[in-house]
Amino acid sequence: MGLWTLVVSSAVVAFLSWAGYHIRSVIVDNCDHCDTGGGQDPQKAFESYAERAEQWKEGRLEDWDKAVSGPASKAEAEELQPFLKWFGSFLAERNISSVVDVSSGHWPSGWQRGVGWSGQDYLGVDITPKMIEDNAAFFQDKTPQEYGLRSATFQVGDMMKELPPADLLVTKDTIIHIPNWAILKFLETNVNVCPPRFKEVLFIHDRPPYWKFRWGGVPLVRHIVRNWDCPRFSDFHEIDLRVAPYHLDVANVFEFNSSTRADRVMDNPKLVQYLKTDCGAKSG
Ligand SMILES: C[S@@+](CC[C@H](N)C(=O)[O-])C[C@H]1O[C@@H](n2cnc3c(N)ncnc32)[C@H](O)[C@@H]1O
Repeated sequence: MGLWTLVVSSAVVAFLSWAGYHIRSVIVDNCDHCDTGGGQDPQKAFESYAERAEQWKEGRLEDWDKAVSGPASKAEAEELQPFLKWFGSFLAERNISSVVDVSSGHWPSGWQRGVGWSGQDYLGVDITPKMIEDNAAFFQDKTPQEYGLRSATFQVGDMMKELPPADLLVTKDTIIHIPNWAILKFLETNVNVCPPRFKEVLFIHDRPPYWKFRWGGVPLVRHIVRNWDCPRFSDFHEIDLRVAPYHLDVANVFEFNSSTRADRVMDNPKLVQYLKTDCGAKSG
């Protein structure tokens, strides 16, 4: 075999291996960076947030200047300002009068304090009772009006069960921590229902890196692309609701450069995916 034959066949084998690996990563859902040690019980898996809230209150949280729910949740964080501004305008322009926020996370250190609310009735739901206790306590010496809200209420609840209706459902940085089967259950129970429980839905989460994410915008191809899965609650995976197993007809309406994982900020910014619920429209 001549030298050129060897060089060309090696290049072909390298290219086919690269293409095969790439295609496999796009279409399969196992993820080699998603297993961070969560659990199978959704309530227990998030108990560390209660511990973090206690530490935050006492100034003992190691990175106590960050929010209890993580760096992308702190109202004062510079990286969050473009999103807060965008969200405030969205609420006002669309005349949203009621909001259900699941999960609410931890208001005393969280992002919701930085929103320019415009007279909404706000309900925050979280599976971790400590979040709800702290949020209710937060409003004992403050009024919702100080934050631009008409009312602010909180309840312990599980997003996989029925949520109360409202104009807008917001879910930020929560489905990134739950397995695909549980996200499907949440969608079946609260989003893909007729009559709709919410007129509009905003999903805010880390998106996959561009080499995977771009296929979600390609008709037909998006059907063979799969979200990576995370095996346990409180693990982490990036989300694109346009591709399998969700196939929601969402629009990508805003992106901002923040990440749940410090090592991935440039690679997978946070994304706002918007759904106008419509019982007459077929998803897929
Ligand atoms: C990373 S924090 C995000 C909190 C808030 N959405 C934010 O962006 O700051 C994740 C939160 O999801 C809550 N959570 C996890 N699974 C849930 C479920 N099935 N139903 C309601 N809340 C849930 C946890 O208790 C925790 O407060």
